[in-house]
Amino acid sequence: MPQPVIDAVVEHTLLEARIGGYEAQAAKADQLDAVYDRLAELVCAARQEIALFENATAAWCQAFYALPFKPGDRILTCEAEYAANYVAFLQRANHDGIVIDVVPSDESGSLDVTALEKMIDDRTALIAMTWVPTNGGLVNPAAAVGKVARAHGIPYLLDACQAVGQMPVDVNVLGCDFLTATGRKFLRGPRGTGFLYISEPQVQRLEPAMIDHFAAPWISKDNFQLREDARRFETWENSYALRAGLGVAVEYANSLGLKNIQARAWGLAADLRHMLMEIPGCQLRDTGSENCAIVSFTIEGLDPIKTVAKLRERNINIGASDPASTRLDADARGLPTLLRAAPHYYNTTEELERLILGLRQLA
Ligand SMILES: Cc1ncc(COP(=O)(O)O)c(C=O)c1O
Repeated sequence: MPQPVIDAVVEHTLLEARIGGYEAQAAKADQLDAVYDRLAELVCAARQEIALFENATAAWCQAFYALPFKPGDRILTCEAEYAANYVAFLQRANHDGIVIDVVPSDESGSLDVTALEKMIDDRTALIAMTWVPTNGGLVNPAAAVGKVARAHGIPYLLDACQAVGQMPVDVNVLGCDFLTATGRKFLRGPRGTGFLYISEPQVQRLEPAMIDHFAAPWISKDNFQLREDARRFETWENSYALRAGLGVAVEYANSLGLKNIQARAWGLAADLRHMLMEIPGCQLRDTGSENCAIVSFTIEGLDPIKTVAKLRERNINIGASDPASTRLDADARGLPTLLRAAPHYYNTTEELERLILGLRQLA
């Protein structure tokens, strides 16, 4: 998190301690309300199309479980779909009799848009895709998929968790009905924050699977009335300190400019790929025709989990990606656990060199 984000979280927490939780919320009402405007600006939506959550998964689930499916309805998804989303598909396949069909990847490893179009039929009730997967630098063709979804009038749920904060996002260009993301990744917001964009027509069409008296005020003994905006998917109680931090993180990213952020972060990732290729036994594992700021790789003889731990001792933070987080892709490519480095705009070439040196010393 950048310092202003940390300051916002700490200041709100201290204000709660000093004057009380409800009182702090009231005192900062304008600032907290503006979080919706900032997120709307970030993804080029309207503020009434934004709902806030405690993570991206909760946002995604609220959208997905609101969709009314009949037995035999088909979901079209991608090979790189994230584990949390796929197990939810499986649950609804068990409970509601929906059918999950996976669109094959093209030779580059991206979702094959031509194959997608051919797979669409009368029973296709949803296209759900992960834009940037958890396990690598692939950037799925989100806008091309959106064109197909619109042409056929099929709802389109886009998991943009790994994309938001590292590249420009415009829901109008993407053509999605739903987009979900987290605060804690490339956006540099606090953990415990996430959001949902839901298009105005879908807000009106969908009833959340679970509601409370914030989503739907209790207007008379036997009646409730759903809110008119996307916040019908929220609940009453929230961490306002974290929301304050999220708002500042979005403002911070917007002020730097997402195009600038993308150029810098993707440039560093491209440099890192070149450096890694010089290490004997290193295999780059990113697929797709363009690669983002996530670099996945393996090095012969290096155990990924131990490598992450040993690098952490040297203050080098990278991750490991387990096959179970993207099982379809991992099975199709026979992937082991991968090492995953995600340089952001604030990283330096010198830091990339330190990572390479650390890996060479461990190999
Ligand atoms: C592709 C993808 N979608 C969704 C998520 C879930 O995000 P969160 O953990 O903030 O709910 C992740 C997290 O790693 C992810 O990689």
